[in-house]
Amino acid sequence: MNNLNISPLKKSFNITIDNIASDKSISHRCAMFSLLSDKPSTIKNYLRGEDTMDSLKIAQKLGATIEDNGDTITITPPQKLTEPDDVLDCGNAGTGMRLYAGLLAGIEGSFVLTGDKYLRSRPMKRVAEPLRAIGAKIDGRENGNKAPLHIRGGKLDSFKYQSPIDSAQVKSALILAALQSNGLCFYKEELLSRDHTERMLSGMGASIKTNSDGYIEIEPLSKPLKPLNLTVPTDPSSAFFFAVAAAIVPNAKVTLKNLTLNPTRIEAYKILEQMGAKVTYIQTEDIYEPIGDIIVEHHTLNGITVEKNIAWLIDELPALSIAMSLANGKSIVKNASELRVKESDRIATVVNNLNLCGVNYTEFEDGYEIEGGATLQKATINSHGDHRIAMSFAIAGLLCGMDVEDTQCIETSFPNFMEILENLRG
Ligand code: S3P
Repeated sequence: MNNLNISPLKKSFNITIDNIASDKSISHRCAMFSLLSDKPSTIKNYLRGEDTMDSLKIAQKLGATIEDNGDTITITPPQKLTEPDDVLDCGNAGTGMRLYAGLLAGIEGSFVLTGDKYLRSRPMKRVAEPLRAIGAKIDGRENGNKAPLHIRGGKLDSFKYQSPIDSAQVKSALILAALQSNGLCFYKEELLSRDHTERMLSGMGASIKTNSDGYIEIEPLSKPLKPLNLTVPTDPSSAFFFAVAAAIVPNAKVTLKNLTLNPTRIEAYKILEQMGAKVTYIQTEDIYEPIGDIIVEHHTLNGITVEKNIAWLIDELPALSIAMSLANGKSIVKNASELRVKESDRIATVVNNLNLCGVNYTEFEDGYEIEGGATLQKATINSHGDHRIAMSFAIAGLLCGMDVEDTQCIETSFPNFMEILENLRG
């Protein structure tokens, strides 16, 4: 359990950052989806964070051969996925556990998915229930809601399912199950959640399309998928910490390179823009998704209400709360009760830690109101094992100094975060 002592910046910065962590969501999917091919997949810029390395280790335990030359990771799937002789440890990763649950539900064998104490306390019913409804045998604590989860995979029925939550993890688990089911499947969510799964699997040859009634239609696989040959783009959620840094430090400017510009991932940048920061998007490529650079420049920020498209910025809300504290006027976050079941209860960890920094707030069941215009004070804050809380308050520390406790969790998604933060000092 490490601690970080952040001292305030002495001068502003104008910096280009090209070594921000690779996208976590896409990296997890590379490890898992490559198992649905019969040829080796080659992945450059795979995220070497703990969460995604855990997903890769699980692929290996299921029979894949992994070669890593430091630059490219080659994942060669086995002819048939094998029943592992040990539990499958997803570490801290909800994405790892929920997507693997969907994948393994359709594979003959006995599988146990477990994780760290934070992951073992997060709800799994959201995937266990719809998967059970199509024939999967899933059990765990609290009747299959909490890991360790035991999955006995086998034949799956086709389904038509309207999800009560907009969750890419639930959607992806069900799509992976659908590919192995015995008929055409249909899945619907109210707001499109991040759609890397649909884009990547379609690119690999799966038949996945969205119908005019909003249902995603998935055909079961009749043959193995084409392998992936992919360079993982930069993670816009990780880059967002430095977008906020530029937005709150007078005269600062940051150029963030090679991010996925997938619209389901960059909504927080749009909010920062609406608050007053200058934000420029430059698309350079299109590989499964639009990819390019985002430039963020400081400007006086104004408060804002965030209540729509929540799934498109859910991971960035902790960092955004720092910008909201400094903006003129109040800011409100609503319809975000999903924050309560992330790596920590992010409504509680955000407002309680902001309060320690001298910020006034009102807490709602599904969000919070932040009184802006605060002069942030240095405090000792605890991450509660949540990487995004640790990094958000480290960024606040650039203005006022901060002692952040329990920062080992940063390794799950952004191992070189501190190195980049220190580079801002010039
Ligand atoms: C993720 C989906 C999101 C996000 C998480 C990663 C994914 O969760 O918060 O960090 O890779 O599918 P939801 O399941 O709530 O969409």
